[in-house]
Amino acid sequence: CGIVGYIGHRDAYPIIIKGLQRLEYRGYDSAGVALYDGNSINLSKTKGKVDDLKSKSESTISLKGSLGIGHTRWATHGVPNDVNSHPHLSNSGELVIIHNGIIENYDSIKKELIKRGYTFHSDTDTEVLVNLIEEVKNQEGVKLGKAVQIALNQVVGAYAIAVFDVKKPDEIVVAKLGSPLAIGIGQDEFFIASDASPFIEFTNNAMYLEDEEMAIIRLGKEIKLRKIKDDSVVYPNIKELQLNIEEIEKGGYDHFMLKEIYEQPRAILDTYRGRLLADKGLIKMAGVDENIEKFLNANRIIIVACGTSWHAGLVAEYIFEDLARIPVEVEYASEFRYRNPVITDKDVLIAISQSGETADTLAAIKLAKEKGAFVFGVCNVVGSSISRETDAGAYTHAGPEIGVASTKAFTTQITVLTLIALKLAKEKGVFSQSKYHEFLTELENIPSKVEKVLLSNALVEQVAAVYKDATNCLYLGRGYNFPVALEGALKLKEISYIHAEGYPAAEMKHGPIALIDEHMPVFVIATKKGHYEKVVSNIQEIKSRKGKIIAIVTEGDEMVRDLADHVIEVPETFESLTPLLTTIPLQLLSYHIALMRGCNVDQPRNLAKSVTVE
Ligand code: G6P
Repeated sequence: CGIVGYIGHRDAYPIIIKGLQRLEYRGYDSAGVALYDGNSINLSKTKGKVDDLKSKSESTISLKGSLGIGHTRWATHGVPNDVNSHPHLSNSGELVIIHNGIIENYDSIKKELIKRGYTFHSDTDTEVLVNLIEEVKNQEGVKLGKAVQIALNQVVGAYAIAVFDVKKPDEIVVAKLGSPLAIGIGQDEFFIASDASPFIEFTNNAMYLEDEEMAIIRLGKEIKLRKIKDDSVVYPNIKELQLNIEEIEKGGYDHFMLKEIYEQPRAILDTYRGRLLADKGLIKMAGVDENIEKFLNANRIIIVACGTSWHAGLVAEYIFEDLARIPVEVEYASEFRYRNPVITDKDVLIAISQSGETADTLAAIKLAKEKGAFVFGVCNVVGSSISRETDAGAYTHAGPEIGVASTKAFTTQITVLTLIALKLAKEKGVFSQSKYHEFLTELENIPSKVEKVLLSNALVEQVAAVYKDATNCLYLGRGYNFPVALEGALKLKEISYIHAEGYPAAEMKHGPIALIDEHMPVFVIATKKGHYEKVVSNIQEIKSRKGKIIAIVTEGDEMVRDLADHVIEVPETFESLTPLLTTIPLQLLSYHIALMRGCNVDQPRNLAKSVTVE
């Protein structure tokens, strides 16, 4: 879901539509736009994609006006349909709002407003909010900004909102709690969006609202920032953005996902560039260096994350325990935050998040901080909520990831976590200088080895063609490659809608083996280092039950080649670094299968890139 707004001297409509397209990656199921044409508000909303919104708007409403707001909605309250789409008007038709997030106490507010004569057309919590603002504005006789503030102090939940009043068309009021909101500042014009991508071609100057802040954006005036709770003044922190437009466009690839898969050699290199100084035998990471005692004295490391980032956390568990000998627990942020976990000030919590906005991960961080733990963030998006909330951190430097299915974020997260583990292994004296040096050198070889894996794309495409009609798939791996099996299965189900499960290869015997017959493709990661013989035995067990075997093997492998129906080779590397290679063919595989099945690769149904609701 995403929001875009414009107030200035240009036509708002094209800016909003293009902006919504830039935010499409966030995932949504309906879209809408509201434009002020100098007299009244023209509203257009539809279930479906921004392209559907475009066709509908261009044939039904006037597109005039240089004030407007637009929205892509990912349904929370009420099914995706035209009526539930945003923007929403207040009963008088004078106020119009867009909202990301959830108003949890909407029901009681709605009942109260109904008693006062308000009527509702949609099932959304957002329509309740805009009418609450209207009610406050009328009852208290205050201006829009004040009314928004009073109303927000009555709601429980999360939001990024933008609202304007047809009677005061020189201003937009925005506010944030939980969901992100960026403001772009141009020459006599302002842009509002969930991230900077909709306005980066117009201005590099931007500011991000912090939680519980609101802003009154008025033409010809400085932006006025306030704390929602106590009305205290906040001084705008305007930054110059580094983002460039090429990074958020497809650059010749058919899909963002494919582009991002192919960017991995560069992204991994960018992640360790300036940090890994192999010739000097050094890893420099400010966030770790400054807090090294915290890590070295930690009783344990707790890793919290969601989705693909959680899988990177699982790989990190193997790396930290194996290399640095520090106990690690990996938790789904959503479970951790609600299960009354035992946390002390001797714990280090590492939160992993591509977007840096995932609501559950953010809440887990806040909980750990309250209990005195040291909290370290591994984020991709610079300046994101999680990167601001953590005590210290390290960015992945993967560049913007637009495809909903995470690819380069995963491999760069593993890279950052490997660097940290190696550094701690060295500091703790677990690693000798020579072993450390060998690792650093091998890590430097990874980008070119990833390049080599990418050369198997045509072969992977052929394999995809064989299995594209499967209804179930199994992914197996052991040790470091068990999380890769989970991630491979997740990639497939996310974008091709084929049911897939990842399992530790040995656990297959305790259930999934019952599913195996000649129709079941089983993807097995069987690289030379990492319990090879054990995995080979598992492959035999699958073969005996006529399962189809697609194996990811080390270059030159003969034994598995004889057993498997298809093999895809990856170069040899250290066992702990194999996930950076074995994961690549599985990404490509899900990409090709999804494409062959006619699925929307970059924007799979029902999924969102950045899950800012819990
Ligand atoms: C969503 C995305 C996934 C992602 C997960 C966690 O489900 O679709 O690709 O792995 O959120 O997101 P984060 O930004 O915290 O890594």
